[in-house]
Amino acid sequence: MDLGLADRTYLVTGGSSGVGLATVRALLDEGANVATCGRDADRLQRIGAHERLFTAPCDVRDAAAVREFTRRAAEEFGGDGVIDGLVNNAGQSRMKGFADSDAEDWRDELELKFAGVLHPLHAALPGLRESAAASVVNVNAVLAKQPEPRLITTSAARAGILNLSASLARELAPDGIRVNSVCLGLIDTGQWTRRHAAAACGLSYDDWQAELAADRGVALGRLGRADEVAYAILALLSPRASYITGTSIDVCGGVGRGIL
Ligand SMILES: NC(=O)c1ccc[n+]([C@@H]2O[C@H](COP(=O)([O-])OP(=O)(O)OC[C@H]3O[C@@H](n4cnc5c(N)ncnc54)[C@H](OP(=O)(O)O)[C@@H]3O)[C@@H](O)[C@H]2O)c1
Repeated sequence: MDLGLADRTYLVTGGSSGVGLATVRALLDEGANVATCGRDADRLQRIGAHERLFTAPCDVRDAAAVREFTRRAAEEFGGDGVIDGLVNNAGQSRMKGFADSDAEDWRDELELKFAGVLHPLHAALPGLRESAAASVVNVNAVLAKQPEPRLITTSAARAGILNLSASLARELAPDGIRVNSVCLGLIDTGQWTRRHAAAACGLSYDDWQAELAADRGVALGRLGRADEVAYAILALLSPRASYITGTSIDVCGGVGRGIL
């Protein structure tokens, strides 16, 4: 099935690694124009060159930098300013419980999660309004619905973002802009390779992953792959999803214990 993404323009934040990188690659494979950012210019460089790809370093917490990134992306793709989709993906989680989290942890976590949606959306809104098939996908976590005490700041911030997504879907619907979320479980990306290295537990990465999946009750018994998330994101970006807004898709291998 043709997803109808070819020749359209998409912004993906945090495209130099993991889920963002898999989304960038999948969109390019579909013939779309893609602009992506991350803080580290060298990691962006490593994506490799592609005639439909624009990359620039940008921290999503910096509103002015995000506006400049968006302006340059529009210029790169012909200057008509149309943006067909935005994937708010940049970010990371904070592995801390309540007793270990100080005021700075709460402020930084809330800032990253909210700025990571609000700044790109403010910058892209005029371009999204010009599209006949505009779609915003917020990359979230099942933590938004099933909080974990060991990730207390991230869980609370994620719940706020899920709530925000529902409000945005209603407010932007009259402009023809759909807003949806993907809620991730454990996805095998840089986040987990870094944690495996930090754990220094003596287990191979595969054995460590299998233990992790069992500990977290993942029904499919393994971590997900970034490309498995990317295809859910593309499905929501596609004009074929024209009647889907204000909802979320869990990409979590069946980690849910309730009726989600
Ligand atoms: N992997 C999981 O199990 C999992 C589970 C639930 C939710 N998530 C969420 O899914 C998203 C993608 O995660 P991932 O696992 O693919 O992570 P990843 O492999 O660590 O990639 C994160 C990407 O975001 C960029 N980034 C981080 N902070 C940024 C900032 N302030 N401004 C701009 N770019 C920034 C990183 O580049 P730089 O470091 O160069 O900036 C990188 O490109 C994140 O929001 C994460 O919290 C992941």
